[in-house]
Amino acid sequence: MKHAAILFSFILILGLPLLAQSQEPEVSPQKGEAVYKTHCVGCHGLHGKGDGPDAAKLIVPPINFHRPESRAKSEMDLRGAIIWGLAFSPMHGWWGKLSGEDMRSVTAYIRQLAPYEPFTP
Ligand code: HEC
Repeated sequence: MKHAAILFSFILILGLPLLAQSQEPEVSPQKGEAVYKTHCVGCHGLHGKGDGPDAAKLIVPPINFHRPESRAKSEMDLRGAIIWGLAFSPMHGWWGKLSGEDMRSVTAYIRQLAPYEPFTP
């Protein structure tokens, strides 16, 4: 009986985070792809290389997500740039324009295009 109680608490401890996670809105790179192709492709380009059709007009070039400094960024870093934008650049914040779910999905899509890789200069 004692063992069953221990086992049960283990299942509870391991299971609760899963339960909490399932309440998060669904985030997927596929959903992010649609967001990217609507809002980001003009500057960042189809493959995220910073070579979209609008890029030539910009003084500050859009980031190529494949460069090592970008690939080394955490999803939190990328999401920060998406939410708040970057100062003195055409990359404005998307807060209030995209939902949190869309911003997380588009971050996942960027990470699918250019997977995370640690980088030491
Ligand atoms: C008007 C052009 C433009 C559009 C549209 C645009 N961006 Fe950007 N983005 C930029 C520029 C320019 C930079 C680089 C700014 C700098 O270097 O200061 C940038 C930087 C970023 C970065 C920072 C990357 C890094 O390595 O620090 C992320 C992430 C990003 N953009 C995501 C997005 C997403 C997602 C969208 C669509 C929802 C988007 N951008 C739409 C121009 C744009």
